Formats: sequence, C-alpha cells, structure tokens
Amino acid sequence: MANVTRLCATKSIMTVNGEFPGPALVAREGDRVLVRVTNQVSHNMTLHWHGIRQLRSGWADGPAYVAQCPIQIGQSYVYNFNITGQRGTLWWHAHISWIRATVYGAIVILPELGIPYPLAAPHEEVPILFGEWWKANTEAVVKQALQTGGAPNISDAFTINGLPGPLYNCSAKGMNELVLKVEAGKTYLLRLINAALNDELFFVIANHKLTVVEVDAVCVKPFTVNTLVISPGQTTNVLLTAKPFNPKANFYMSAVPYSTIRPGTFDNTTVTGILEYHNPNSGSASSSFDKDLPLFKPTMPRFNDTGPVTNFTTKLRSLATATYPVIVPRSVDKRFLFTIGPGTLPCPVNMTCQGPTNVTRFAAAMNNVSLVFPSTALLQSHYTGMGMSKGVYASNFPTAPLTPFSYTGTPPNNINVAKGTRLLVLPFNTSVELVMQETSILGVESHPLHLHGFNFFVVGQGFGNYDAVNDLAKFNLVDPVERNTVGVPASGWVAIRFLADNPGVWFMHCHLEVHTTWGLRMAWLVLDGSLANQKSQEILVCLVRSRLAFFRFSV
Ligand code: C2O
Repeated sequence: MANVTRLCATKSIMTVNGEFPGPALVAREGDRVLVRVTNQVSHNMTLHWHGIRQLRSGWADGPAYVAQCPIQIGQSYVYNFNITGQRGTLWWHAHISWIRATVYGAIVILPELGIPYPLAAPHEEVPILFGEWWKANTEAVVKQALQTGGAPNISDAFTINGLPGPLYNCSAKGMNELVLKVEAGKTYLLRLINAALNDELFFVIANHKLTVVEVDAVCVKPFTVNTLVISPGQTTNVLLTAKPFNPKANFYMSAVPYSTIRPGTFDNTTVTGILEYHNPNSGSASSSFDKDLPLFKPTMPRFNDTGPVTNFTTKLRSLATATYPVIVPRSVDKRFLFTIGPGTLPCPVNMTCQGPTNVTRFAAAMNNVSLVFPSTALLQSHYTGMGMSKGVYASNFPTAPLTPFSYTGTPPNNINVAKGTRLLVLPFNTSVELVMQETSILGVESHPLHLHGFNFFVVGQGFGNYDAVNDLAKFNLVDPVERNTVGVPASGWVAIRFLADNPGVWFMHCHLEVHTTWGLRMAWLVLDGSLANQKSQEILVCLVRSRLAFFRFSV
C-alpha cells in the first residue's frame, strides 16, 4: 500500500513494491521468469502477464477463478513461466475485481542477447502507461455498482505514468505531469500501454508524427500517423523522431477517450504530458519544464469520431517477411460467431436496481451467456477432474447466438442474458475462426476483446452484419495483424483466427473493466495434446484461509 496524492486528494492505494505505477518487468526472449507475489493488502490478489503466451503454463496466467484461486491475505504464490517466441512491449496487471486500477506495470521483452532490434536501435526507450484515476476507492466504486446493478461512477482523471497533467483543476504540486526530454535529431521508442479501465484512447503529440512499429509485442509494417488509437489491454510501440533543430518550444502529449456511448456516461477529460527539447550540453535535464517557452497543443479527435479509429486499425499489417513470417491458419476446423454486447438480468428480490428499468439490471454477455466464476478455479477443476463430473462447469458454451442476430440499427429482440459457467471445449490444435459481432443493443459501443493464452490474427473487420459469404471471401490471409486484444467495432464485427495449440483454460473478455464486471467474459478449454499443460505448480485453494503449500501436482 502507499499514500498517493492526485487531484488534491490523498488516498491509500494498493501497489507492488510500493511503486505506482508498478515496477517494469524487463526480461529477454527465452528467459524463464519467476515472480513471487506476497499479498500484504487487505484484499485477495492475482497478477496477470497480459499477452504472455504462457505456453503450457496456464497456472501462471493469473485471472482469478479461471487460472487460479486468488492469493489470499498473507499468502504468497510463485508465477513461473517462460517467454517463448515473443519480444516487445506487454504489461502486467492485477486480475481480480478492479484492483488493476493501481496495480499494473510494463513488461519489456528485449531480444535475445546478441540479436539486434529489427529496426535501428533508438536513442532511448520510454514506457508510457495510460491509466485511470478515481478520487474514491475504486473497490468501493465497483462494489456500489454491483449492488445497485447500475453503472459505476466514472473516473476523475486519466494519467500518463501515474500523472494526470496540467489540464485538471487540481494536481499535486511538482507531480503534475510527465515531462519527456528529447534531444534534437534523435529517435525515441515509446512503449505505449493502455492500462485504463474503461476507456479507449486517442493519443497525439502536438506537431510530431508517430511511426507505429509494433502492437501487442508483434512487429507491424511501419506506418506514420498523427493520431494513434489504443484500447485498454493493448500495447503499441512507436518511434518518435525529434525535430532536427531545437524548436525552442514545448509540446503537449495528450490522450482523450474514444467513446460512442452517451456523453456523461464516460470520463471525457484530457490527460497531458509535456515533450521538451533538451540540449545535452546544457547540463543534466531537470524533471520540470521551462514554462516560458511557447507551448503547442494538439488537435484531438472528437470523442465519438470512429473515422480515425477505422483508419488506424485498418493500417495495421504484419511484417510478413522471411524473418517475421505470418502463420495464419488457412484452413479452419471450427467456425464460431459470438454476439458481443450488453443485456439485462432480472433484479434480485429485495434489491432496488438502477438498470435499464427498475426491475432489471445491466448485464453483458457473449452469445447471451454471462460467465459466472465458480468457487474453485476452472483450470484447477479441469486438471483435477472436478470440472464436468463435479459440476464446476458445463462444456456447452453456445457456438452461435441464442436468437439469430441481425443488425438493423434498432435493438433486436435478444437482449436476455443467462448466467452460467459454460466452457467452449476445443481439441488440441483446432484451428479456429471466430467472428465477434457487436450488437448495439443498449447503445453502440466498441469492445476491446482480449484472449488469454494465444495471439490471434485479425483477418477481417467491418460494419453492420457480418456476411458469412461475401465478408469471408475478403479475409486477409496474407499479412493480417497478430495481437492479443482487438477492438470489436461499434455496430460492426471483427474476425480472428488462431490455432488452439496451448492446452488449458483460457479466459476471454472485454478489457473495459465495467463490461467484464457485468459478465462480458467466457473461457475456452483446450484439451491436452501429446504434451499436457505444465506438470507441477503450487495450488491455492479458493475460499478458505489455508492452502496446500507447494502441492506437487502432476498431469
Ligand atoms: Cu489484461 Cu484478462 O486481461
């Protein structure tokens, strides 16, 4: 825990090693990583290594009640995994309730020793983490929302590396903003991470262009933009080339939300950092900036402008070279269509709900099913044989929406949500095509969907109804972008393909935390192939105050 002052208010927050944002985990491709997490806060805890493939090491993935039981107060747990075939920027965060609001940090995977970057080495590398800040205790915010069935209070600020910046009325003195010092003519690698809970963001640096070179720790064909789009969960590496001569000016680096929902229901504020030119001969750089210099501000897109989003996402292409080949499944074993969107659940008796009507409350679902977490972790249940036999879960997740979906611009009649713990079971090495269709039922909204345990290829996206004949024919199987979190476009669809080559139970959910809370989440069960999930790990027991320490668990 640490006391942190933002927006003129001090609150006690959960931290890792006392740091906010948390420490960066820097490793090399091929490393084995061991992280012992000791829970010293008064809340259950798990950590997730967002985007790490976790090949056969699902025990180290982290989502509470899916991959593991939470680390209870006073307990510890060792996350043990290899970094195989991945390099670039990812991030880690708490994966229980809304604790990731303050418990998050960067993961930087450097190339193996002696292997150069695919591009010329930058002068400096800078992690830029976008976050979201509530003056109130975020656990109280989510608890209140769950109790009333209403929407949680929106955040009070966005942050860059934990700092809200000068456009908020009130910031702690001397800790206002991130000041990024650059030297004329040099190139910087910015490792952008959207760790915000509920907002997709536009990011612009005034009078500077950004060259996108990597997303979700996978190289892309470089392209240059003024406006960048990054959704919660996503990471993006960009090159920033400083102007050839010192411009004798400072520049805002700003982020604002992208949202197609009703104004007032999301945080529509602006976070800014400052880009300042620094002459290396004039002594060491101070952490503040020269306020006498002219300050340039960028033009930001309007909050609901989908144009720059589509423009940005359709530019993302894999390198697809001999060194960085694209191995997109060409033939497909299983095709699935999931509707992604909100719905309603009946209000429990004895409760007054603030949902769409006073007898219903908000829910969210995929194919009308809202995942209910079991009281013991799904992965553990599967490998101990308790899964189906003991009724911890069922294996009948619907492979198509409950009622046929047709996007007409008006709400279709399938907003009902059923609660359930139903997994979608895949034999090892199934090649999967999944189309996710946004339903626009209670309002048009885009959803950043994150799949644990895999990278996938984004083979198509579009607006309106997905057309299984004409759209399919246009899929990009040549150089589709490979990633772990993709925006399902507002009133549109996205198609992904992946090979289910990683046995275990893998969570998939909207990375807008409020939607995950409402149930926009499901899990895949990938059966063992010739090699099972990693053999032994310590196992935590859910819902009791003891654990089987270093229980040897073999499969
Ligand atoms: Cu970054 Cu399941 O999350």
